[in-house]
Amino acid sequence: MLQLEALISQAQAEVSRQMQVCNACRYCETFCAVFPAMTRRLEFDAADTHYLANLCHNCGACLHACQYAPPHEFAINVPRAMAQVRQETYIEYAWPRPLGELYRRNGVALALATVAGLALFLVMLLSMKGSLIHQPLSGNFYAIFPHNMLVFMFGLAFGWAVLALGIGAANFWRGQSPGPVGRDAATEAARHALTLTYLDGGHGDGCNEESDRFTLVRRRFHHLTFYGFMLCFASTCVASVYHYVLGLKAPFAITSLPVVLGTLGGIGLLVGPGGLLWLNLRRDPSHGDPKQRPMDRAFIVLLFATSLTGLALLAWRDTGFMGLLLAIHLATVMALFLTLPYGKFAHAVYRCSALLKWAVEKRQPSRLQLGAD
Ligand code: HEM
Ligand code: SF4
Ligand code: SF4
Repeated sequence: MLQLEALISQAQAEVSRQMQVCNACRYCETFCAVFPAMTRRLEFDAADTHYLANLCHNCGACLHACQYAPPHEFAINVPRAMAQVRQETYIEYAWPRPLGELYRRNGVALALATVAGLALFLVMLLSMKGSLIHQPLSGNFYAIFPHNMLVFMFGLAFGWAVLALGIGAANFWRGQSPGPVGRDAATEAARHALTLTYLDGGHGDGCNEESDRFTLVRRRFHHLTFYGFMLCFASTCVASVYHYVLGLKAPFAITSLPVVLGTLGGIGLLVGPGGLLWLNLRRDPSHGDPKQRPMDRAFIVLLFATSLTGLALLAWRDTGFMGLLLAIHLATVMALFLTLPYGKFAHAVYRCSALLKWAVEKRQPSRLQLGAD
């Protein structure tokens, strides 16, 4: 035990301590996947704590149900302990490793990236058009910033984000050594990620926000955010197919597929993050880790700003303000892409990996051989 404590951080030791109490109690066994995964272990090493922390959806149900929660001397607060280890996961598996520290200063990093992006695109606009306002250009963005230049800049930033997150997830996965992944397990994990099963408190009524009342609103606002983001991504992919495969050049008509997908996605990405921010500001402060609030809120605000500036650009693309709106929108998207691997977005890849591990693990015989499934 002494040796184990030497190898794990304080936050991991706290998860390990709390899981040993929970393992004796097991009241919350049916709430989410964390508790059945816990019952397959008697001790919790560093990899186990990373796994359980990312399996936890921070729904709050086990805190509100717990008879050993503070002020009880056992001081059990599973959502907070898990949140603290989750951030350590992001830092430990970040690539390149030194940039992992950005998770601790994510709000500042994000603000700097936005200001730098804004300065860059405004200077580019001024040097290309001579002023911030110009003659209307019938929505032709590329008359201001050439298409190939934008593809190069954003391709590089997005490629970096995919590479950094991919390497982080691969390192996490290797550390877990979960065994072969079958098709059933992969399908089940995808279903749990896409429907956010474990934000339902284990009974389908939802998670806790400001009190012990259950509500499905966080899950619904997250769906709007996630599917809005995916629709915006689909819009960009379809626009690329139009450009490179079909030879159709932007600006596209309001009724075209890229614009319809982008508009629907933009609305989701406005309403979803708006709702998540509203909930986040009201949430019981004992859920989660207060030190991570700037990172959570900065990411939500950036998603909201990305959508707001994109929709504003669509609405005023036929006016002389297009260049200015375009510069602001591009700066926001650039800040989002550059900070994707070093902020809240990382939760998507690590949570999906943990869900996949659980789907694999539950199909294997228990290592304890005590009859737990
Ligand atoms: C499919 C993979 C994903 C899973 C399994 C997932 C899961 C979750 C869960 C369980 C939470 C609530 C707990 C927490 O605050 O950490 C959450 C929060 C959040 N997610 Fe996701 N997510 C995924 C992808 C995404 C994507 C792609 C986006 C946005 C583009 C996103 C945006 C957010 C935001 C903004 C929050 C913060 C809510 C808050 O702090 O109040 N998620 N996610
Ligand atoms: S969180 Fe509390 S009630 Fe739930 S299993 Fe752990 S000790 Fe028991
Ligand atoms: S906060 Fe919710 S998801 Fe996390 S361990 Fe507790 S019940 Fe499970």
